[in-house]
Amino acid sequence: MKIAILPGDGIGPEIVAEAVRVLNVLGEQFEMETAPVGGAGYEAHGHPLPEATLQLAKDADAILFGAVGDWKYDTLERALRPEQAILGLRKTLGLFANFRPAILYPELAGASTLKPEVVSGLDILIIRELTGDIYFGHPRGVRTAPDGAFKGEREGFDTMRYAETEIRRIAHVAFQAALKRDKRLTSVDKANVLETGQFWRDIVTDVHRQYPAVMLDHMYVDNAAMQLVRAPKKFDVLVTGNMFGDILSDAAAMLTGSIGMLPSASLDANNKGLYEPSHGSAPDIAGKGIANPLATILSAAMMLRFSLNMPEQADRIDAAVKSVLAQGLRTADIHESGTTLVGTEAMGDAVVKALN
Ligand code: IPM
Ligand code: MG
Repeated sequence: MKIAILPGDGIGPEIVAEAVRVLNVLGEQFEMETAPVGGAGYEAHGHPLPEATLQLAKDADAILFGAVGDWKYDTLERALRPEQAILGLRKTLGLFANFRPAILYPELAGASTLKPEVVSGLDILIIRELTGDIYFGHPRGVRTAPDGAFKGEREGFDTMRYAETEIRRIAHVAFQAALKRDKRLTSVDKANVLETGQFWRDIVTDVHRQYPAVMLDHMYVDNAAMQLVRAPKKFDVLVTGNMFGDILSDAAAMLTGSIGMLPSASLDANNKGLYEPSHGSAPDIAGKGIANPLATILSAAMMLRFSLNMPEQADRIDAAVKSVLAQGLRTADIHESGTTLVGTEAMGDAVVKALN
């Protein structure tokens, strides 16, 4: 099994190193190859997604990704910014199905900004479409407004669009995921305002006919945002487009108290995938050895489960993470009084030890 290791920027290299250590003690033979991506790709080869990095990602069975981005690249032209690396990987590799679980570990109930009774036992799954929508829609740009009340003025514009096939395939992924859980699916759109929203709703409703065992409901995105903070446990699986999924998944992540705990998977039609923590590159704490590596370690577990067909090894990692939390070990982002503050490496050590 070949794994492409793309650490990226900021805390990326530190947290990915811990996940690699964990993979290496499982007793399996993985072929791992590392390549620069994001700002690191730009520094090394003048492009956030260097040709060799993309080729490695294409050739691998799975990709373990850290994070990209740093303020120092904010002034670069868009095509050279670190974020283009992850967008390029998603699009080029066809990684259209993004799984973002938001699970609250009982030990961390106090870390949430919401009342414990609202979030304790939370276990929801956001499925975000990842290669369409306003993220990739053309035309886009800055131009002279051709019409409207501001005709002749400069305007920025993007295009929100979804093809039927794109909606159908993500709907199938979502219904199938719901079948493996509590069999409830909420589809989120803005059908009251947007054409793409109504179209999305119609197609999801049609796909539902093939999954009578799943209970489907539809929700407008503004209401979904409200319900996520009001009564998040009412959800089981949510499916939504790229833009709304970006926003709702950050909100859902924060329900759990620490975005430093949440893994994610981005899969293509054949379950080849890119696995990354849900959090970003956190340049403010990079190199300090204090970042939480657990989201990346849990992402490696998802990789074993979804792409490498090693569910037992995935279970072992999940159990090891639970055990270090039960031991009271906490990185700074989830630290509370009465628990033991540890750094990135010590947290990785503890997971490795729990695995042995
Ligand atoms: C995410 C991130 C990315 C996105 C950025 C880094 C391009 O926010 O994975 O949610 O907007 O999809
Ligand atoms: Mg985001």
